[in-house]
Amino acid sequence: MKFFIDTANLDQIREAQALGVLDGVTTNPSLMAKEGITGKNNILKHYVAICDIVEGGDVSAEVIATDFEGMVREGEELAELHEQIVVKVPMIRDGVKALKYFSDKGIRTNCTLVFSAGQALLAAKAGATYVSPFIGRLDDISTDGLNLISEIREIYDNYGFGTEILAASIRHTMHVIECAKIGADVMTGPLSAIEGLLKHPLTDIGLQKFLEDYRKGNG
Ligand code: G3P
Repeated sequence: MKFFIDTANLDQIREAQALGVLDGVTTNPSLMAKEGITGKNNILKHYVAICDIVEGGDVSAEVIATDFEGMVREGEELAELHEQIVVKVPMIRDGVKALKYFSDKGIRTNCTLVFSAGQALLAAKAGATYVSPFIGRLDDISTDGLNLISEIREIYDNYGFGTEILAASIRHTMHVIECAKIGADVMTGPLSAIEGLLKHPLTDIGLQKFLEDYRKGNG
């Protein structure tokens, strides 16, 4: 299972990278805005800065255009920026066309804003590299986000689609564990969801006891 961090915050990306388990980064226009990154040149520079931190990892960069020509123009520019860039395309009609176009040209894509199995099937048919079902946002509206991951896993396995399931809008550690059990290829979430995996009170209590016993015998 690949671990991506879902942020445009360079410090958090560095921290996750330092842990040694980071495989990539996902961003979106809201995450860029949260970090105060505005203006095309600054946004492009920020993507390069992210790529430089995550050595060899995939970095999703989202197009802003919603028409086919605009998405192609922006996506090609983003892909040119750095070899680690994956072009993030929304699940809309022209987005599906753009996914197919990019796939034919060998440009890697991440189909975002996916909320149904049908959308995920379409993204795979169009040749998306990754599909991003937003599980937290489904949970927010009383719909089981993890069930969507299971449905997509079953469909992709039925036909051997190569599109990777990137479980997105992950909010906490249990989302990560459940996605791993279902067989999501990738999870993207906040640093807290990754760091939550390492915590267990019995680990802390056990370590404290080991160290106390060592000190008793060794001064
Ligand atoms: O990866 C998608 C993500 O950025 C959306 O997360 O928490 O805003 O639903 P959230």
